[in-house]
Formats: sequence, C-alpha cells, structure tokens
Amino acid sequence: MKRHLISAADLSRDDALLILDTADELAKISERSIKKLPTLRGRTVVNLFFEDSTRTRISFEAAAKRLSADVINFSAKGSSVSKGESLKDTALTLEAMGADAVVIRHGASGAPHRLATWVRGSVVNAGDGTHEHPTQALLDAFTMRRRLGSLDGRKITIVGDVLHSRVARSNVLLLSTLGAEVTLVAPPTLFPVSVDSWPCQISYDLDAVLPKSDVVMMLRVQRERMNAAFFPTEREYSRRYGLDRDRVARMPDEAIVMHPGPMNRGMEIAAEVADSPRSTIVEQVANGVTTRMAVLYLLLGGADLGGEIQ
Ligand code: NCD
Repeated sequence: MKRHLISAADLSRDDALLILDTADELAKISERSIKKLPTLRGRTVVNLFFEDSTRTRISFEAAAKRLSADVINFSAKGSSVSKGESLKDTALTLEAMGADAVVIRHGASGAPHRLATWVRGSVVNAGDGTHEHPTQALLDAFTMRRRLGSLDGRKITIVGDVLHSRVARSNVLLLSTLGAEVTLVAPPTLFPVSVDSWPCQISYDLDAVLPKSDVVMMLRVQRERMNAAFFPTEREYSRRYGLDRDRVARMPDEAIVMHPGPMNRGMEIAAEVADSPRSTIVEQVANGVTTRMAVLYLLLGGADLGGEIQ
C-alpha cells in the first residue's frame, strides 16, 4: 500500500481486498462489549476538518480510538484558520506535534494532495471538494460485499448529483478495480464533462437501468454547491430521478439500496425506501468505523492482526 490514501485510484485490487478483509476481521471487535485494540497505542491521529461532517468525522474518531491511538480533533471553526491561517501553516503546526496520520476534509479539491507534501505522516482524504472520498467508497464496497458476496461482475447503479459528488467518483474508481460494472444515472446537467473517461457506463433513464441493478446507490442533491439551476424544480427531479416505492418494486428481489448520507428525504429518496429492510444506510455508518479502522491500521503499519484479535 502507498503511504497516503488520497484517491481510490491509489489502491490496487490487492490493496483494496486487503483493506476489506482486514475490516472483516476488525468487525469482530465491534461486536464485543469492549471494542478496543492496543495496536496504535502511542500513535497520534489528527482529524482536520475544514468542512462540515457528521458521519465521516465521528467514525474516524471512533476508529482511531478503538485502535488506542491518541486523537486530536481540529475544526476550522474556532481555530486560527478563521484568522486567515493558511493550510500550510496549519500543516506545519501539526507536523510539530508529531502527527502519525492526518485525516483531512477540505472544500478545495486537491487539498489533501498538497498537505501530503508538507507532513511526514500518512494523509487520508476524508473528502476534498467535488473530487474524492476514498474511505466512503471503501465502506460502501465493504457493505456491498457483506450483503452480496464478491463484487466481480455485480451491476451497481449510482444515481443523482454526480457533478458535485466525490462519493460517485471514488466509488466508480474503486468498484471498477474490484471488478463491478458501474452505471451512473443523472440528468445531463448533473454529469461532469470528464465523465466520458471514467471506467463506467452512463444513462439518463433510471427506469431502464433499475431491473438490471444489484445495488442502487442514491446521491444527495448538493444544493450548497449549486450556483445555477441544474433542474427545473425539486418535484420534477424527484419524479425522474427519485427512488420511491414503485421504482424499488422494479429492482431485482435481492438488490439493495444505499445512500452515503446526509439524505434529502422525499427528494432523491422516499422516507419509506430509506427505512426499508433493503436499505443499508444505517449499516453503512457502522461499517464506516470498521473500514476506517482497517485503513488507519494498515497505513500506520499495525502489527499482525491475527495475534491481536485472538
Ligand atoms: C458525503 C460527502 O460529504 O461527500 N457524505 C459523507 O461523507 N457521508 C456525501 C454528501 O455530502 O452528500
């Protein structure tokens, strides 16, 4: 494995499978009453969040703590960043504190890449602008594997605001590495221009793709990143691209419904679909902790897991 995890493209098939297999082992810890391993005792993990986050931030913190690392949580609000301190000076401060890993979420695409040139520890991208979110893709793949088995040849449909979604890009890259066939579905205005070069199919017609999908992953409509009208009305968007009960009925019986959260209930996904047994949305959050434990463990060179878990 490389020293940093910045893009899902940093992972070879073997790396990705190693992370998923390690997460499977670590999941056993999460089922115990004492959910803790001594593996990263004495190591420091800094969570550096310049953008809002609920799930990702909490799960990185839980993951590092379950491995006994010291965790420093930094958020831009309330720090000297609001006084105009640059990313570089923030990075040098962390470096002086001896961070072994820095988990960064930033509004600018490419920020983790820059950070990696300034710090000695491992950098983990927890979402940069509209670019990538590799640990979300890993936890999604982990969730799919648990429900469906191997991802080889599986048909995965990702629906919605692809243009603003770092989750979609990381998932396309990782899932294709793992042998799945990915189709992106969105209105033409919500595809990035570069999508033609991504390893996936594209479609504008959700109803045509649903019957052939093993997984349907809905994306949030990211209003906070929209500076123009990308679709006529919310109702119109929902009617063409929202996942409701009738559309779920067109999916194969075993097919699952996913969403990275946060959801716009009633817009891209109907509340009854989000809360149905086919939905893995809550599992995805739980799996986020185990998958991020595996990432931190492998990047920080944890000792042999076999010996730790017995
Ligand atoms: C996503 C994100 O922040 O990129 N959420 C997450 O990490 N769980 C998706 C989103 O914001 O819609």
